[in-house]
Amino acid sequence: MPASDALPPGPNLFATFDFIRNPFRFLDACAARYGDWFTVRVPGVSPFVFTSDPAAVREVFLGDPDALHAGEANRPLGAFMGARSSLFLDAPEHLRQRRLLLPAFHGEQMASHADAMRTAADNAIASWPTGKQFALHPQMRAITFETIIRAVFGFGDDESGSELRALMRQLFELYSSKLGTLFSLPAMQIDAGRWSPWGRAVRLTRQIDAILFEEFARRRSDGVEGRADILSMLLAARYEDGNPLPDAVIRDEMYTLMLAGHETTAATMAWVINRLLTNPNVMDRARAEVVSVLDGKQLEASHVGKLKFVESVINETMRLDPVVPNIGRGLKRPMTIAGRALPADVTIAPCIYLVHRRPELWPNPTQFNPERFFESRQTPYTFLPFGGGPRRCLGAAFASYQMKIVIAEILSRVELKPADGYVASATRKGIAFAPSDGLPVIATRRSL
Ligand code: HEM
Repeated sequence: MPASDALPPGPNLFATFDFIRNPFRFLDACAARYGDWFTVRVPGVSPFVFTSDPAAVREVFLGDPDALHAGEANRPLGAFMGARSSLFLDAPEHLRQRRLLLPAFHGEQMASHADAMRTAADNAIASWPTGKQFALHPQMRAITFETIIRAVFGFGDDESGSELRALMRQLFELYSSKLGTLFSLPAMQIDAGRWSPWGRAVRLTRQIDAILFEEFARRRSDGVEGRADILSMLLAARYEDGNPLPDAVIRDEMYTLMLAGHETTAATMAWVINRLLTNPNVMDRARAEVVSVLDGKQLEASHVGKLKFVESVINETMRLDPVVPNIGRGLKRPMTIAGRALPADVTIAPCIYLVHRRPELWPNPTQFNPERFFESRQTPYTFLPFGGGPRRCLGAAFASYQMKIVIAEILSRVELKPADGYVASATRKGIAFAPSDGLPVIATRRSL
């Protein structure tokens, strides 16, 4: 019997299409039918064994990184970022490179990005129409894109970053389009000239690379002392042997940070607003907290830690609407995980969405109740919106900090109402799942 026949049962290919159309509905249906373990098969790739058992999640996160390869499972994304990104490496190379990135993403560094995050939010909010319906999710993407340009790439209001902004915006629009999402398939990577989708991506990438490499050289020669942006920290970083990160690696990491960082955070913030719109009492309470914490002043770093209720709202949203609903680790050898024997070459997929809805962990699991986060009894294996173990999201502190700032700015500056009859479902947007139809809303301004 081939080893894969011993895998847990799961949906057929036809049912699996629903993962693209409506992933949350698909996962609910699989859990109802198959329980804590099921196998999802997609032609041409090794089977995904989904699990929502926290004991299994724990074993995966604490397991041997030599046997549980995340980099390999992420590799289809290499088309977007370049293969030298830490996202695609596995132990020990992964650890070596991640160590150089970690200090820039430490929680203590976040205060230095507060201005960039607030400015990006305020500029976007000021441009929103009043009294007229508009899609909020693209606005969230504009905010997170601009935040990365400022805080990660280190470009401010002057002209120097304008060409990079314009080119990157075009490239990432292309990536998050329906066609662009398919770029991970080698068959789609055909350069048939600059009018073909992949050909356009190749040309935009070339132009962006030229700007980036020139900028790296400029900063290396001018020095980066006194700069708080993440690119400058990477340029200054040294391996244990004293060598710097090669420019080509920094280039791939910069694309990774833009791609991994802006779609996920934007989609999460769109879900937060959707939850606030459908829970007006929670909206009122969150706004009251923001008004009291800011006390008529401009938001700054010292306010962020005080936004406790806003933080619970964000956590409760990430529990119910995780924009990355599962993660994956490719098994390099047969393993027994939570008592279940699995063959080599399958991908074990801890299912964030389903762990977050287990009734024994989360009473009344489908109820939106931020207060449940007040008395925190979660573990890294029961609340895992950012994944876990040695591959836990590098930008978790960055995203959490930014989301508090942006949500607080929105609550203090505008009143939002949902579009008539709108009910959100999850739809793929780039590498994340976002509310359908861009989350249509109507805004009116508040006096500050
Ligand atoms: C709410 C926003 C975000 C969510 C929900 C999110 C979620 C995730 C998840 C689930 C993973 C996979 C973890 C695993 O396999 O265990 C991940 C990895 C990663 N994320 Fe995030 N992310 C967010 C924001 C960001 C931001 C803002 C950045 C950077 C600016 C970022 C950079 C990364 C990187 C570099 C990795 C790969 C880490 C590694 O393999 O060592 N993410 N993220």
